[in-house]
Amino acid sequence: MQASNVVDGRAIAAQIQRELTARVADLKRRGVVPGLAFVRVGEDPASKVYVGRKEKACAELGIVSETHVLPEKTSEAELLALIGKLNSTPHLHGILVQAPLPRPIRESVVFATVLPSKDVDGFHPVNVGKLMLGDDTGFKPCTPAGVVELLVRSGVQIEGAEVVILGRGNIVGKPMTAMLCQKGKNANATVTLCHSATRDVRAHCRRADIIVAAMGVAEFLKADMVKPGVVVMDVGVNRVPDAASKTGTKLVGDVDFANVQPIAGKITPNPGGVGPMTIALLLQNTVRAAEQALG
Ligand code: GUN
Repeated sequence: MQASNVVDGRAIAAQIQRELTARVADLKRRGVVPGLAFVRVGEDPASKVYVGRKEKACAELGIVSETHVLPEKTSEAELLALIGKLNSTPHLHGILVQAPLPRPIRESVVFATVLPSKDVDGFHPVNVGKLMLGDDTGFKPCTPAGVVELLVRSGVQIEGAEVVILGRGNIVGKPMTAMLCQKGKNANATVTLCHSATRDVRAHCRRADIIVAAMGVAEFLKADMVKPGVVVMDVGVNRVPDAASKTGTKLVGDVDFANVQPIAGKITPNPGGVGPMTIALLLQNTVRAAEQALG
């Protein structure tokens, strides 16, 4: 039987979590239990699901978490006041404010208020700057860091590869670009960042050895846009109508999986690809934050 080209993100995430178990046990021997605060504002259904999954993963690993749920109408000042309190709570080593935040709260102001040493999301300007500079002492955003781990652990050569990233968001596209173009191990790629004003996305994608799809357009990447053997990482999560489902909707990625999978060298499924890796890297960042707090 031919080996499947579908990358099992759940299995790789579970492996990372097993590796973290020893580090958590070591911290506990030294009297420290890693602590993570979640902050959720409003009732965005996807955010509820994501935070719920992250809480569960923390509990499984032995990270103590607490979740602060604030009403939709919370002011920016109230949110900043909460973050200030969490910043000065010693047993909380990480703080995660789930995006998107309701308007008119400015995400950039909120992310810049989290202490860089507790910024396990890697969204603070200091950590963003360190990433750009190739300084590994900062925290890297979990989703693009998870994509790098998926590539490395499934044996994909990044060095020298032509990589096309679809989407220039602050959470995935931009940091993904910075990570893969660095001089160094598990990087050294030639990176093209495509976005809504790119003239010929298909031509860029056809050249790519690796494509990271993170623009949030359901099933955008079609079979005729890729070359045979391409490695495809699908970050997208899009809810679309589906008459066959009980809810009337279903989740699909940014990749037309059914048609791209037969051509691809490797491809992530959705769900079960990149999603579990985001959580695994959050756990890893939190354990590191606790280790660093201990000195
Ligand atoms: N919303 C979508 N992805 C993320 C993430 O990685 N972290 C946070 N805080 N919010 C998100």
